[in-house]
Amino acid sequence: MTKSRLYSGMQPSADSLQIGNYIGALLNWKELQQSHDAFFSIVDLHAITVAQDPAKLRENTRRTAAQYIAAGIDPSASTLYVQSHVAAHAQLAWILNTITGFGEASRMTQFKDKSLKQGADATTVGLFAYPTLMAADILLYQTSIVPVGEDQRQHVELTRDLAARFNSRFGDTFTVPEVAIVKETAKIYDLQNPTSKMSKSAESHAGVIWLLDEPGVTKKKIMRAVTDADGGVVFDRENKPGVANLLTIYSVLAGVSVQSLEDEYAGRGYGDLKKGLVEVVAGTFDPIRLRVQELLDDPAELDRLLAVNAEKAASVANETLAVAYDRVGL
Ligand code: ADP
Ligand code: NA
Repeated sequence: MTKSRLYSGMQPSADSLQIGNYIGALLNWKELQQSHDAFFSIVDLHAITVAQDPAKLRENTRRTAAQYIAAGIDPSASTLYVQSHVAAHAQLAWILNTITGFGEASRMTQFKDKSLKQGADATTVGLFAYPTLMAADILLYQTSIVPVGEDQRQHVELTRDLAARFNSRFGDTFTVPEVAIVKETAKIYDLQNPTSKMSKSAESHAGVIWLLDEPGVTKKKIMRAVTDADGGVVFDRENKPGVANLLTIYSVLAGVSVQSLEDEYAGRGYGDLKKGLVEVVAGTFDPIRLRVQELLDDPAELDRLLAVNAEKAASVANETLAVAYDRVGL
C-alpha cells in the first residue's frame, strides 16, 4: 500500500525557530514522516509577503532547513525543500487567484489581523494572496493530510473549497485535502506573557526560547518565567497559566505526564521546577544546536541535500501543474 501524502511548512522568518515550533510542529512531523509520504517546505515565498532583508532571508532559509534536519526530519525519507526552488508554487498560485473570490479572500481572519496591525499602506497584495499560495503548496502534491495549528484551519478550509471548485469547473485535478488540527495540548505560550502564544514574531523576545540560544541565555529566560503567588506546582491553565505552560513544556520534552510532574514537585517551589526544566530543555536542544552547527559548517552538503529534495518535489509538482494548465486552456 502506498503511504498517504502529507504536506506542511514553516516560514524562515527568524534566524532560529522557537520551542513552540519544535513542540507544535517539528516533533509531530518527525512522528508523521514514518507513516506518511511527507513533504516539508521552508516557505520563503510566504516570508516575503512582509518586508525582509534579502541577505538575512537567504541565511534564515538555510538555518531553518538545518533545524528541520537537526530536529529529526530525515531528508532522504521525507521531501525537505525550499518553496522558491520549485517554480510551480508561484505558477499554480496565480491560477488559484483567478478562481478565488475577492470577498472570500477578504474574509480570512489572519489577513484581517495582520493588515490591521500593519496599516493599509504597508499591507501588500502578496499578503492578501498568502492563502492562495498556501493552497498551491498543498494542492501541487495531491496532499491528503495537512497537519496545522488551529490558526491555519481557515486557510486549509479555503484550500479544500478551491480544490473542489477547480475540479467541478475544469474536471478532476486536485485531491481535496483533510485538515488535521494539532492538539491544543501542544500549544506553547510566551514565558513572560503566558496567555499569548510563543511566536517567532513576538514583539519582545524576553519570553521566547529559541532552539539555537546558548544554554546560559535559555536558563535565564526559564528562571525569570512569569508564574504566580500561589506557590503550588499544579496544572491549572486558567488560574495558573505560567506554571501550566512550564509543566506542558517539561512534560512534552521529558516524555512524562503532567500528573507525574505534579507529584514529583509537590511541596517544592517554582525554583525547583524551573531548574528541572532548564536541564530538560538543555538535554533536548544542546544536541540539536550542535547538529545545526555541523550542517551550517558544510554549506556544500546542505545545498546538495536541498537541491536533490527540490528536484524530487518539482517532479511531483510539475506533473500536477501541467494538468492544471491544460485543463484551464493554457
Ligand atoms: P511563529 O508564530 O513562531 O512564526 P508560525 O505561525 O510560522 O510560527 O507557525 C509555524 C508552525 O509552528 C505551525 O505549525 C504552528 O502551529 C507551530 N507553532 C508556532 N508557534 C507555536 C506555539 N507557541 N505552540 C505550538 N505550536 C506552535
Ligand atoms: Na509567524
